Amino acid sequence: MLRRSATQSCDIMIIPREIIEEIQHRSDIEEVIGSYVNLKRAGSNFQGLCPFHSEKSPSFTVFPATKSFYCFGCGVGGDVFTFVMKAENLDYVSAVETLATRAGITIPTDKNSASSEMSRRRVFDMNLDAAKFFRRCLYDEKLGKIGMDYLSGKRQLSQATIKHFGLGFAPNSFGMLTDYMHGLGYTDQELMKGFLCGKSQKTGRPYDYFRNRIMFPIIDTSGNVIAFGGRVMDDSKPKYLNSSDTPGFKKSRNLFALNYAKNHCSEQMILCEGYMDVIALHAAGFENAVATLGTAITSEQARIMSKYTKRVIISYDSDEAGQRAANRAMSVLAEVGMDVRVLQMNGAKDPDEYIKKFGPDRFRHVIGESKTGFDYKMQNILAKYDIVLPEDKIKAIAELCSLISEYPSSVEREVYISTVSSKIGVSKDGIAKDVERILRKRSQEYRNKESREAKMSIKGIGDRVNPDAAKNPHANAIEEAILGLMLLYDEYRNAVASQSIELSEDDFFTELGKRIFSEMMRLQKTDGGFAMSLMGENFTPEEMGRMQKMEHSRRQLTENGWDNFKSSVEALKSEKERISNRANGEWMENLRKRRDELKNKQTRT
Ligand code: GTP
Ligand code: MN
Repeated sequence: MLRRSATQSCDIMIIPREIIEEIQHRSDIEEVIGSYVNLKRAGSNFQGLCPFHSEKSPSFTVFPATKSFYCFGCGVGGDVFTFVMKAENLDYVSAVETLATRAGITIPTDKNSASSEMSRRRVFDMNLDAAKFFRRCLYDEKLGKIGMDYLSGKRQLSQATIKHFGLGFAPNSFGMLTDYMHGLGYTDQELMKGFLCGKSQKTGRPYDYFRNRIMFPIIDTSGNVIAFGGRVMDDSKPKYLNSSDTPGFKKSRNLFALNYAKNHCSEQMILCEGYMDVIALHAAGFENAVATLGTAITSEQARIMSKYTKRVIISYDSDEAGQRAANRAMSVLAEVGMDVRVLQMNGAKDPDEYIKKFGPDRFRHVIGESKTGFDYKMQNILAKYDIVLPEDKIKAIAELCSLISEYPSSVEREVYISTVSSKIGVSKDGIAKDVERILRKRSQEYRNKESREAKMSIKGIGDRVNPDAAKNPHANAIEEAILGLMLLYDEYRNAVASQSIELSEDDFFTELGKRIFSEMMRLQKTDGGFAMSLMGENFTPEEMGRMQKMEHSRRQLTENGWDNFKSSVEALKSEKERISNRANGEWMENLRKRRDELKNKQTRT
């Protein structure tokens, strides 16, 4: 089974624990969370509406005493790092870095680390060196001529634009980059990890991954070169080759040119499909354009965009595929509360071509004409029907009502109801009633689903954080009691570490229990010992929340002494034994049955 393992996460930079603890110490959890959530004091804790699921009464709680938070509604929880991970969609290291910056702490980087692990910094340095190589090749009169001709000739890019985006050229060679990077001290392993080299199937040797391609460096908002896209200069396939996700790069969390666009998008952002669209737009003065990295927009990207701007103009290709993608992008962006518009281009397949054909002023004009999500969708619905015909009209109204009912705000619904009413010539009242009916039906369905979910979670079925729990709820309860105590008290962890109490990973039933136990014990044996703040590196916010819950329910109990701990450990082991006996019993039973069957057969023949 694939899961995030300790060794895997070690590929990422290891930040010294003193630094992590210092950052945590200097980041008041109620202050950090308070900048995202409106918190009200409730006794010694704080409460607010959970930012991670929608709710009307606050079940999100911050516990300053334990520097933790937990949502009793959706089960997300953890420490200040977990919160920032979840709220900003960052991995653990980036969350630590974000809070470090906020607290004014510099994280030491160890460039010459002797270990085989590759830090993010190292990946970024390596990419920067590669980007410089690609750029040198592009400007080389012999080597890069074909690339430069393509960019300035066929694509009509100015020298300034080529420089601005740091474009480069990967020569048609299997080893030029590899040799060059070796000269700078990068190992084969590093080059392959960073997706700059592929590995030959036959010889196992590395070779240049990008060959004979125009190179687009992808730069994050901190200015790091995190990856590359490479385009062929003819019609060969694949048209674009992109780096896969590496230790420093996740496609789903980055946008092309956001490093520039973030400073020009206070009003709105333009979202395109292609790198070349973005480059053409920036060159024409639309410096608020970004693109996803060869994939459909993710909700993480939408959330990132929403941090920088309020409105997004979707400016996808005008073909059918592009328009379908626009429809999807619209809902993803609307979900994070953004004002979404869709641009409609006639006479060109994409923004790049449009600008070339009609110039920036016309493009600015179509931006102004861009339709709100509702208008765009309404137009698409109306285009399917001939509303002069009564049947068609009824179908169109049904679809429009269902569309209106998707909008959570009653004010918005009212506005759209009158739009539709005047567009189709049906009374507002009639439409409003139909919308109301759809909403009632949907909320009934929702309530049913909710009560179903509540029932399931009582039974432990459908527990996504710990799917194994349902298989043996009794064992899981014991497990949670033991882990809760160990997470809370050093003495129990110590007893297990020194083997005065015998307990091992194998004694646990659930995969999650095993992972929590082994990571906790691994940390316990390190110099500084266990700290909850170090767990975030290997567990998701949902899993961290589960640990919070285990701690929390233990803290509610007064009976948390040694007797309790020991008897829980005994109970876990005897449960394990019972199960394995049962399994053995079944196995023996089966064996016996099969033997008897065979005997019967033999006697018959
Ligand atoms: P030009 O043809 O140079 O104008 O490219 P474009 O940027 O307009 O690209 P297109 O509309 O064909 O595709 C949009 C985006 O999808 C590109 O910028 C790439 O990120 C991605 N893409 C296109 N073709 C491929 C491909 O063959 N492989 C991968 N991985 N991504 C691709
Ligand atoms: Mn194009």
